[in-house]
Amino acid sequence: MNRRRRIYEGKAKILYEGPEPGTLIQHFKDDATAFNAEKHELFEGKGVLNNRISELIFGKLGEIGVPTHFIRRLNMREQLIREVEIVPIEVVVRNIAAGSLAKRLGLEEGSALPRSIIEFYYKDDKLGDPMVSEEHITAFAWAAPQEIDEMMQLALRINDFLVGLFLGIGIRLVDFKVEFGRQWENDMMRIILADEISPDCCRLWDVKTNDKLDKDRFRQDLGGMLEAYQEVARRLGILNENRPAVGSTPVLVSSNTPEGKPH
Ligand code: TMP
Repeated sequence: MNRRRRIYEGKAKILYEGPEPGTLIQHFKDDATAFNAEKHELFEGKGVLNNRISELIFGKLGEIGVPTHFIRRLNMREQLIREVEIVPIEVVVRNIAAGSLAKRLGLEEGSALPRSIIEFYYKDDKLGDPMVSEEHITAFAWAAPQEIDEMMQLALRINDFLVGLFLGIGIRLVDFKVEFGRQWENDMMRIILADEISPDCCRLWDVKTNDKLDKDRFRQDLGGMLEAYQEVARRLGILNENRPAVGSTPVLVSSNTPEGKPH
């Protein structure tokens, strides 16, 4: 039983009150949803994988100076994070035409874009997260012009870093979605990366085979979603290749033991 106070429950995560003021606990669930939760399934172990993948990515982004909400991982499914006020905008960065962009503009899926493209979606499940422009964002005061600039700059830095990280393990970063939050320190406010970065919110294609290693496996009924997430974790050096996985539960490497070092 979890006796901590639940602050918010989303489709794939729960936020609990943290141990100190200004902190929260982010809990990763096994639920996968698509098309605004019209489609819903449980994948045993997905939350564990996303917790570890997101920890690794946020940790690395922190090392290159991208401010994030991540403090530390607490256990297999939970991480301690800084409490922020989420900016109600989903920022999508695209490198290759796929998904809704390919459909909307009639582009061939897989064709390289002339440059990385940023899009904004207004976070509102009732409306199905509609695409919006900077004009909408500023007119309705969802974010200030300076905040939009900061989010765009951070999103492009994150993209540059992640494209390289994934290419190094034979994966093309087609596109991804990030969310940002406002963090206050005294009277100062800054925009920091929040939420998660995992195969739930990225398109990841194997460089050689073009196999999809992300949530499109679930969205498009391709099967093998959990195995794809495990493959991403394995290539990132998180899954222990030497120990056989028991059942469908992935065996994870503890970052506190020598065997946890990436090989
Ligand atoms: P899209 O092509 O469907 O607009 O998706 C763009 C990227 O955003 C893709 O990497 C998947 C991710 N995404 C989410 O994380 N959540 C969502 O609700 C949607 C629609 C997309």
